[in-house]
Amino acid sequence: MIKEINVQDLRVGMYVERLGISWFHHPFARNKFRIAKESEIKKIIECGIVTVEINTQKSIDVALPAEKDDTEDEIFSVEKSAKQQEDVPLAEQEPVPLKEEIERSVEIYKKNLSLVHKLVDDIKKGGKIDARSVNDTVDQMIESVFRNRYAAVTLAKLKAYDEYTFTHSINVSIFALALGRQLKLSRKQLKMLGSGAMLHDIGKASIPEHVLNKPGPLTEEEFRVMKTHPELGIKHLKNVENVRNEILQCILNHHEKINGTGYPRKLKGAAIGDYAKMVSIADSYDAITSTRVYQKSTLAPNALKIIFSLRGEHFYTSFVERFIQVVGIYPVGTLVKLNTKEIGVVTSINPSKLLYPDIELITDKKGEKMGATQTVRLGEEYKKAPELRRKIIDIIPQKKIKDLVSEEQDLITDLH
Ligand SMILES: [Fe+2]
Repeated sequence: MIKEINVQDLRVGMYVERLGISWFHHPFARNKFRIAKESEIKKIIECGIVTVEINTQKSIDVALPAEKDDTEDEIFSVEKSAKQQEDVPLAEQEPVPLKEEIERSVEIYKKNLSLVHKLVDDIKKGGKIDARSVNDTVDQMIESVFRNRYAAVTLAKLKAYDEYTFTHSINVSIFALALGRQLKLSRKQLKMLGSGAMLHDIGKASIPEHVLNKPGPLTEEEFRVMKTHPELGIKHLKNVENVRNEILQCILNHHEKINGTGYPRKLKGAAIGDYAKMVSIADSYDAITSTRVYQKSTLAPNALKIIFSLRGEHFYTSFVERFIQVVGIYPVGTLVKLNTKEIGVVTSINPSKLLYPDIELITDKKGEKMGATQTVRLGEEYKKAPELRRKIIDIIPQKKIKDLVSEEQDLITDLH
């Protein structure tokens, strides 16, 4: 059986069936071979490969990562007991506190917004893409993701700015970079991923406005036009020097699906490329959770449910699972209702306890505003008697958060 696995799961003894890059770009004598020593795994990772295909029949005596049980919706099982959660190791500490990094992220986001406006303007005027500016802003986002992986994600999730056409590329870049950090990509790999994500929809600059922002379903002909945007995007980059293939892959393949039902080329599995697979998840997540002229936004947990249900069909399963770890089922900033009738805002995600974030209470059991700050750590509620344990029973839609906090600074203050 041929199985696609993450390079982090490679073991000595596994038989590599396909590396996903051409013979000219890897140091091995053959394209197919059995891994004989650890140093060969290191070489594969250094080639910038994220997943490989292995032949399980030829991989003698090697323990493979456990198969996913597709019938069990484990990640979304709210019933999973607190006792089970206790055994999970503590989350890795972020180098910079969330609040501090969100403040920086707001500034980076604003700069990105003007850059995206300029990129679209340049293309509409028939000009060239300013590759250096893209590079510089992606660098700043990477630094931010390394200081705190949740800060930029939090901002992207809050949808503090309404211009979808422009914010979408920034959000996709942020989500893709956070996923890339979770997958332990190198800075060089993150740079290609972030740039590819930033430019993934650049071809839409050439799609007529009446198709792009039509407040209703597209006709067959309009959809055909819309589906040309990945190839148009590649054309916009033809005058830019030294564009990496990985960036072109993100632009051309971000609408391809694992099962071969995507567009423009109906590519399947490994042929899509890891960078495009990551951008595809980030792209879909931002699109589903955003309000558009033709659709209402879907709440973050429901968006994750949709993406999770399409794992192995549209999206690469292993990346979906890592993505959920980084955006969280209840992302920071989500307004939640507890079984005690208290209302609170999620202030911190526990990557190993996604269903049990930290919450700052906004109203008490009677619906009255809290006098003093009170943080509830749902991850520690299991220590109480069952009848006293707090748990999330509902999510309050994002637009209501906007009603509560209209100004950016208030937003940041309210998060902490
Ligand atoms: Fe697209």
